[in-house]
Amino acid sequence: MANKTVGILTGGGDCPGLNAVIRAAVRKGIVHYNYRFRGVQAGWKGLMEGNWEPLGLEEISGILPKGGTILGTSRTNPFKSPDGPDIVIENMKRMKLDALIAIGGDDTLTVAHKLNEMGASVVGVPKTIDNDLNMTDYTFGFDTAVNIVTEAIDRIHTTAESHNRVMVIEVMGRQSGWIATHAGIAGGADMILIPEQEFTMSQVIESIKKRHSRGKDFSIVIVAEGVTLEDDYVTHGSGQDEFGHVKLGGIGQWIAEQVEKQTGFETRVTVLGHLQRGGTPSAFDRILGTRFGIAAIDLVHQGDFGKMVSLQGNEIVAISILDAVGELKMVDQEWYDLAQVFFG
Ligand code: F6P
Repeated sequence: MANKTVGILTGGGDCPGLNAVIRAAVRKGIVHYNYRFRGVQAGWKGLMEGNWEPLGLEEISGILPKGGTILGTSRTNPFKSPDGPDIVIENMKRMKLDALIAIGGDDTLTVAHKLNEMGASVVGVPKTIDNDLNMTDYTFGFDTAVNIVTEAIDRIHTTAESHNRVMVIEVMGRQSGWIATHAGIAGGADMILIPEQEFTMSQVIESIKKRHSRGKDFSIVIVAEGVTLEDDYVTHGSGQDEFGHVKLGGIGQWIAEQVEKQTGFETRVTVLGHLQRGGTPSAFDRILGTRFGIAAIDLVHQGDFGKMVSLQGNEIVAISILDAVGELKMVDQEWYDLAQVFFG
């Protein structure tokens, strides 16, 4: 007879390393604590619909190097409808869950916190390729995304150099510029534009012209998707998801057109899109995911709910979910100053 029944769900955009968390929590939970697991399907949507599958040692076998999430995910927000939270709590009871591990970013964890306030026993695990979650130094998925973008910059470098072109690369990150800044530093970008920093188009043009006037015939410009034009995001369509987020994208094209028009240099744009989120996790993300998964099931075992596991320095610690959500972690000036040394 199992000691406890624990549900696990993954919410929001998928991200390399999710399966490492699931594997670690389930493995330690079954082998050390004699728990039983239920894999909630497609994030909060699964709890709204009571949709789950058994999650045992067989299901987690071989998933460590796999990208995405074996549980599926969604951007469903139970608090979008008035009776949504009660339905979730009711379904948790029906599924006989003693505890729930919710793996997600700011949106998923905000829901986790609110449900916890309503009496549900929830532990949070932070994930996002954007690395914009507060109170944790890094989220898993970010390192993999940075590696993918860095490799893309290296590849674009050689073709930029051969054709004497300005290459604009648009990367993900939502309202933050973590992926752009880190991959830009690693890939030797000549300019990095992020939402945290104000800039004018004439500054961008001047910087590119200056570089070309000192004999460099090509430039690499990294643009984070959340860079705004006159305070407005560039978006695909007008829709929003259930958490009120618009679909970002298109700023790279706009910048590239301006650069070509105002400098006369031939310019091309590459939008890396979901390539940044797919595929196998880096070793760093597998290890961080594993550490988070172990720490999360330990919190369940201690009955320490309403907490989120977090990386601080090289330690995994437990903090209140409430302290991590609501306000995003933005790129600080120190990082940008470092990147700027190599601009122009
Ligand atoms: O939050 C992760 C993220 O990949 C963002 O960087 C990006 O803006 C968004 O998700 C894309 O979402 P979707 O997969 O719904 O297009």
